[in-house]
Amino acid sequence: MSNEKKQESCRQPIGVFDSGMGGISVLRELVKVMPHEDFIYFGDSVNAPYGTRPTEQIRDLTIHHVESLMAQGAKGVVVACNTATSAAVAVLRKMYPQLPLVGIEPALKPAAVQKPGSRIVVMATPMTIKQEKFCNLMKRYEDKIRIVPLPCPGLMEFVERGDLNGDDLREYLQKLLTPVMKEPVDGIVLGCTHYPFVREMIQQVVGDKVTIYDGGSGTAREMRRRLQEKDLLNPKQERGQVRFYNSRDTEEELALCRSLFEK
Ligand code: DGL
Repeated sequence: MSNEKKQESCRQPIGVFDSGMGGISVLRELVKVMPHEDFIYFGDSVNAPYGTRPTEQIRDLTIHHVESLMAQGAKGVVVACNTATSAAVAVLRKMYPQLPLVGIEPALKPAAVQKPGSRIVVMATPMTIKQEKFCNLMKRYEDKIRIVPLPCPGLMEFVERGDLNGDDLREYLQKLLTPVMKEPVDGIVLGCTHYPFVREMIQQVVGDKVTIYDGGSGTAREMRRRLQEKDLLNPKQERGQVRFYNSRDTEEELALCRSLFEK
């Protein structure tokens, strides 16, 4: 690549994709570790939730949206959705081997490192938990921690509605978590990028002694490493810009994106 072309590529934005609003929890971490980068965030709220759809559909939707971020000039893409990562990232890597592409997976590693021997609940969409990728991840850590997968159908919808601390949410979480709390829980892994937005309520329901893990900051650092490796970090000194797009293209939706980003 010529020097000029390289400089041009460095100045291109990073694409961030999720089935809806959840990936904004990862975007916040990306901006923290790469404040000088520009970002394009796309959420596919029209087709959300992905977590109850068949794998082929999730794969096709994800490929389509990642390609559209590339067509808008993204120099790298973060699939900020555990569900879309398990369904599509391996295929995307084969299709675009040169593209810095980072997915997200439930953060079992920090739980295993910090609390060996503990009982860890993994909250995720039904689809993430069913995937082979998750089974392989569990196998990697099951001799270090006791893993309890907990599918949470319906939870991401609270975030999509912007309902982050209402009574309905509290009731939903109590009903969901009470059975797994019959035995002591040491940690909870948030295996869906929507869930960090309801982290406080989860903490209230499970109590202060339970450590909550999420994979957002690790994913952001991985993207920075990948861009650095390819010499693609933006050299500009001023703060980057973030542009939001959503398949449900209404002012309310975009206002919710911005307000979640500011949280
Ligand atoms: N945010 C997505 C994840 O991390 C899933 C939400 C959905 O079901 O669409 O898994």
